[in-house]
Amino acid sequence: MMCLMTVVEDRETLFQADIATLGERTASPKTVLMCRPEHFTVRYRINPWMEPANPTDTGVALRQWQTLYDTYERLGYRVELIAPIAGLPDMVDAANGGFVLDGIAYAARFHYAERGPEGPAYASWFADRGLRVVEAVSVNEGEGDFLKVGETIFAGTGFRSDAASHAELARIYDREVVTLRLVDPSFYHLDTAFAVLDDAGGPASVAYLPRAFDDASRAVLERRFPDAVLATDADAAVLGLNAFSDGRNVVIASRARTFARDLEARGYVAHGVDLSELLLGGGGVKCCTLELRW
Ligand code: ARG
Repeated sequence: MMCLMTVVEDRETLFQADIATLGERTASPKTVLMCRPEHFTVRYRINPWMEPANPTDTGVALRQWQTLYDTYERLGYRVELIAPIAGLPDMVDAANGGFVLDGIAYAARFHYAERGPEGPAYASWFADRGLRVVEAVSVNEGEGDFLKVGETIFAGTGFRSDAASHAELARIYDREVVTLRLVDPSFYHLDTAFAVLDDAGGPASVAYLPRAFDDASRAVLERRFPDAVLATDADAAVLGLNAFSDGRNVVIASRARTFARDLEARGYVAHGVDLSELLLGGGGVKCCTLELRW
């Protein structure tokens, strides 16, 4: 026990030394795709957060979403918009619209029929912008389940994306793809339980909720990211890990207070945004954000 404590303390000292010698963390410019929640509501239940019997307020969703948009603009991101489509209330969750890297868009193929038409809608947006669109053979929900850290793509499965889509990804992008299996239905997409803090990679470059993964996946995460931020249940309960980072600024749920403190201790700047209305659909900051690497 004593030994373990010493190791943990040493790591903390290391972070401080790291920050001191490296100075401030640097932000890398980001381009993201978002979709205004004009038709947001909860009228079906495809994750445990959604309760169609509870009222939703589209006006509040729009106002809260706007603060996220404004935050990105203030941080200097280029924000692209896709037109929302009536009858697709979850289209605000742009992260699920596909995965874009190297100018190639791997199109989404949704698990639930309710979201099915979003796949082609996002795919034609990508094609219109000159991206090469690769139709998916396997069910996959885009960046909701695929997150790039360094040159590796971490890919979630268990609830939405089929493991077969991970092999497709590896083939299309010629990169290592690491499968992570999710086991808690409340954390049904990888981006609800795993956040990339620094996409350059490294032992401390991510945050995650250990209990959202099966034993084998947790072992992989411990080995790859020995100095990761481990989320608390309270932060996870407000989808705190559903965050977006540029390597310096991390935009997170404003109620994820411990996470904000942990980030600040490691030299990041946390920007809290309240998306409580979208949380009724099981979405948060990252869900509203699809990174365009084109
Ligand atoms: N209601 C949506 C669904 O269940 C929420 C999607 C959240 N998106 C995400 N990237 N985690 O599909």
